[in-house]
This record gives sequence, structure tokens and C-alpha cells, in this order.
Amino acid sequence: MRIVVGVTGGIAAYKTVQLVRLLVTDGHDVHVIPTENALRFVGAPTWEAISRNPVTTSVHDDVPRVRHVALGQAADLVVIAPATAHTLAKMAAGLADDLLGTTLLATTAPVVVAPAMHTEMWRHPATRANIETLRKRGVRVVGPDSGRLTGDDSGPGRMVEPERLKDELDGLLRPAAVAPGPAGNDLEGMRVVVSAGGTREPIDPVRYIGNRSSGRQGVALALAAADRGAEVTLLAAHVEEGVLTEAHAHPRIQVQPAGTATELGEGVRTAAGDADVVVMAAAVADYRVAEVSETKLTKDSAPGGGLELRLVENEDILAGLARDRRAGQTIVGFAAETVASDEELVERARRKRERKGADLLAANAVGWSAGFETPDNAVVVVDARGEVVARAGGTKREVAEAVLDAIAAVRAGA
Ligand SMILES: Cc1cc2nc3c(=O)[nH]c(=O)nc-3n(C[C@H](O)[C@H](O)[C@H](O)COP(=O)(O)O)c2cc1C
Repeated sequence: MRIVVGVTGGIAAYKTVQLVRLLVTDGHDVHVIPTENALRFVGAPTWEAISRNPVTTSVHDDVPRVRHVALGQAADLVVIAPATAHTLAKMAAGLADDLLGTTLLATTAPVVVAPAMHTEMWRHPATRANIETLRKRGVRVVGPDSGRLTGDDSGPGRMVEPERLKDELDGLLRPAAVAPGPAGNDLEGMRVVVSAGGTREPIDPVRYIGNRSSGRQGVALALAAADRGAEVTLLAAHVEEGVLTEAHAHPRIQVQPAGTATELGEGVRTAAGDADVVVMAAAVADYRVAEVSETKLTKDSAPGGGLELRLVENEDILAGLARDRRAGQTIVGFAAETVASDEELVERARRKRERKGADLLAANAVGWSAGFETPDNAVVVVDARGEVVARAGGTKREVAEAVLDAIAAVRAGA
């Protein structure tokens, strides 16, 4: 396959050397198009040596071959890594003042961007609006990861690791021979957002308050929705890579990591902008630590013996999504409840659905040995009238299919 790798001016450009190497090793014909600024981070000789193809940034080089459109037209895939805030803005505006810009306008191939920037730049309304514009145009956004950034700060903004980006590209390059799910392609054309896993609220640099959610139910929902034809954004909060393998490889699933409840809330709200369905299957912490310690707490931190942590309430993501939902959007919540009976589970599900304002609420009983970290699950699903519209037990995939059936029925006005 012919792959164009656009590189823009961020420190993460060094990671893209590894991405190019992985793609070349797989036998792809890789053409690197850096921006002028990118060459200040990694020089043209490195890109030429590693890609085994000539490298230029300008539309005025190699004019007889009409390079400014030739590469775009011939590409099977275009990936921009790292994608700076500046280049994302240029892409959203359709600017074409260099070889990368013209190539992007000349291509009909799938385009993938791997943003990298400081958290403030990533969260800026201009960047968010540009990302939304690109997503709506079908550009696949991979990452950014959350973690240590250049300098002392940390947060969302790290470019995803090259191996993960390569996995995403492999998914796109594979012929889209995805077996339809049991319900066929009934979700085709639909955009679905699923959250999975459990958020972690830091106490200090090494400790956190978390929960036992493995993310398996959310991942099963994402896979089932994608197999039924939906385009899925899966926000994964601390889901083990092994649980995510299938989702990473699925051409219709875009996986985005999230750390804390606040990060998950931001990610879900952004993704929900153009979604038809949002399923909040992640276990989100109700509280976070009011003052996170910059240094590791020690026994000396609480000299009198015993340590008190003050917790403050996190935003209610599900209630916020339901409150701000667009016309035609379906919001689905999950609730894990410790209950003594099925009646109590149904009653709690009804009350919770009403409190949150969701269209559907799927409730499952949890305990020391039920619900979490297991391959099986059992849920009841209640709708806006308080009626039980589905009951499902079995593998998490089977439960996912039943929940999607209930969603499809609600959207069909059943
Ligand atoms: C050391 C250094 C690191 C930078 N890292 C980033 C980055 O990670 N993300 C980003 O959006 N901009 C970053 N910038 C700023 C961009 O290089 C700048 O906005 C530039 O205009 C981007 O041009 P380009 O998108 O055409 O490559 C960095 C600048 C410097 C000097």
C-alpha cells in the first residue's frame, strides 16, 4: 500500500521515525511529507533514509511530476503524526500553502491524525472546534494520550505511541471484511460513543482511588455496535490493552484513552457532539480528591496516625449528556448496584434513570464476586416510562447485543 506520512512541527516527530520504520518493514511504500517546521525537529535525511523515498516540503520541487497532487491521488492512506494545533487548524480551513496541505486536499484516501500538543492547546475551543470539523469530514483522530508532556506538566496531549498508531492504520488498511453482527447492519451510518472501564482519581503521584471495572462490557458494546455497522468512538478509562486488542483492530472503532472522571467527561462530551447514541458504560468516580499531593504521601504526612482525604463531588457526566442532548440523540446509562433482589434492582434502575434523565438505563447487580472482572454479566434495561424493555444474561457480548436491540427499538419509536 502507498502511505503518505505527514509530519508537523512538534517534539513527538521523533516517534514518527519509528512509525515509518514499522510501515516500511511491513512492505508499504511510504512517502514522508514534513512541514518546514517539522524539519527543525527531525531532518530530511532521516526521513529519506528511513522511508527510502525522496522528501520535500515544497510544492515547487519536482514540478514536472505535479507532486503537489500526485502523492495525494496515489495514496491509499494519509496519516499526520504528530498533528500540531496549527496543522489541524490548517486542515479544518482547507489551507494548501505547502506540499502537505495540497496533498491533503488532493486525496480521497482515509486520513488519520495523531494530535500532539500541550493540554491547554488541546483543550482550547479553537482546537476542539477544528477537531470536530475534521471528525465530521471523516478524519480519524487517534489519541492524544494522557501523560507526561514536554517539560514538567502532564495531561492529555501526548502523541499515541507509534505501535498503537500502526495498529490503527493496520485496521484501516485491512479490507473491510467485518462480519455483520447477529442483527445484521441495523446500525449502519450511526455514530455511537461508548465509555468503558473505570476512572482513577489521583491522591498523589503514585496512588489513586479507582474501581474494579475491567471495561469488558463497554468494549463488548463497542464491538457489537461496530459489527452492526456503527462508527464507534470508544473512550477507554484504564482498560487493559489485552481487553482492547479487538477494538484497536476494528476499522470502525476509534479508541481514545481517558484517565480521570474529568478527562472522561471532556472526551465524551466532545465525541457526543455529532453522535446519535451515547452509552455510558464506564464506572465513573463520584468523587475526586480535593487536594492532590504533588509528592508521595508518607506516614509522616499524618503524624497523629490516620490520614484524612477530603473528597469533592465530580460532575455527573450522564445527567449532563441527557440535559444537553440534541434532538434525536439517545443517551444510555449503566448502573452497577448492590441489591438483595431483582425487584430492588429494577426499582433502583427506574429511580436512577429518572434522576439522570437518560433514555435507557441498564442496571446490573454487582458484589464481591459478580459483575466486575468476569466474562459474564446480567442486566435489566428500563426505558423512560419506567418499563423493563430488556433482560439479558450471558456473555458480555450477548448482553451488549440485547442492550443495542433495546437502543435500536427506542430509536425506531417502539
Ligand atoms: C520545542 C517546540 C515544541 C513544539 N511542540 C509542539 C507540539 O507538540 N504541538 C503543537 O501543536 N505545536 C508545537 N510547537 C509549536 C509548533 O511548532 C508551531 O505552532 C508551528 O507553527 C507548527 O507548524 P506546522 O504545523 O506547520 O508544523 C512546538 C514548538 C517548539 C519550538
